[in-house]
Amino acid sequence: MNGFDYRGNELFVENVPVKKIVESMGSPVYIYSEKALRDSLSAYQEAFSGHRTIIAYAMKANGNLKILSLLGKMGAGADVVSGGELFRARTAGIPVEKIVFAGVGKTDVEMREALDAGILMFNIESSMELERLSRVAVSMGKTAPVALRVNPDVDPKTHPYISTGLKKSKFGIPMDQALEEYKKAARLPGIRIVGIHQHIGSQLTEISPFRDAFDRMVAFARLLKENGIGVSWMDLGGGLGIRYDNEKPPTPKEISHEILSRMKGLDAGVILEPGRSIVGNAGMLVTRVQYLKETAVKMFYIADAGMNDLIRPSLYGAFHDLWPVEKRSGKGRKGDLVGPVCETGDFLVQDRELPPVEPGDLLAVMSAGAYGFAMASNYNARPRPAEILVSGDRFSVIRARETYQDLIRGEGIV
Ligand SMILES: Cc1ncc(COP(=O)(O)O)c(C=O)c1O
Repeated sequence: MNGFDYRGNELFVENVPVKKIVESMGSPVYIYSEKALRDSLSAYQEAFSGHRTIIAYAMKANGNLKILSLLGKMGAGADVVSGGELFRARTAGIPVEKIVFAGVGKTDVEMREALDAGILMFNIESSMELERLSRVAVSMGKTAPVALRVNPDVDPKTHPYISTGLKKSKFGIPMDQALEEYKKAARLPGIRIVGIHQHIGSQLTEISPFRDAFDRMVAFARLLKENGIGVSWMDLGGGLGIRYDNEKPPTPKEISHEILSRMKGLDAGVILEPGRSIVGNAGMLVTRVQYLKETAVKMFYIADAGMNDLIRPSLYGAFHDLWPVEKRSGKGRKGDLVGPVCETGDFLVQDRELPPVEPGDLLAVMSAGAYGFAMASNYNARPRPAEILVSGDRFSVIRARETYQDLIRGEGIV
């Protein structure tokens, strides 16, 4: 993994030994590589360099302010899905003219905030939302720039919980209603049509669903044009997968080829919303093994990180590779790496051959940069871990470990 490697038996992030970070910051701890972050954004920027393009980083994957600011300074915009994300993106200095706002449940307040900010466009997910946005914009004496999120009914061949472009999904406007909705949008006083949007799912590892979706979107853009509705942006969403295990997802270059070869004659800029493929393999979660416990049927390795820190294994049965921070000799054993949370579903690894491990050892749960900290919770009153960014020979705290006081902030005993 770019930025994460062994020197001898010791795991390093760039030039810093992981053990050194944990000695001063404790565990569990998220550690990111600045180089890996920069390289993954650059790969997109280079792939689309000949075309008017905004890489609107899907910050739901990891909304840490420092990461946002680093990506923003490199030229990224942001795909936001709530008022809170808009606030974070702006606080991190992402320019509003590179911010797009998606999500099925935008409230009046969120609409007003985004209109006040002057974002690039709203990605509208239903007919009612379109009408409401028009009313809100008119009440503010503004027109809202919009794209309609069109649901192309393409199977992304990924986990059902992260498939978003199927007919049965709650996202977007069905393809067969989209032209009528665009015509309606063109009539609404508070709406200005600027784009088309789609996003079919996450952790896509094959090129064919992208191809199908791009074909449908481009055909739809041409249909709109024939109906006198031009768009200046094609927002083709995110979803490019990463290698967790032995997947071989397409590269941004391959995606750009598929997109740009279809865009001829459309005269529109491209917006992409990658999240996971920017941060996923730029981060890991390091945990310390507390106890070993053998039962008649299973070997449990009990760690200080659990589903509250990284929920992907519990939620999706997701695979994360496990690397020892210091390699030991000897033979590993099959078992579960579980957390301290009071749920049977609290595991990071299940029924897998683990490296040789003793109590007190540190293990790195790899590929945890996306939907890791972002989905962490305080369940069981567990403070969320620190986040550390390694840049060459240095490391810095980009989010302090939460304290017990953080756990009760805002509460009171009346
Ligand atoms: C609208 C939208 N755009 C972009 C993304 C980012 O997807 P990924 O992290 O797979 O690139 C998502 C993820 O859910 C999304 O819903």
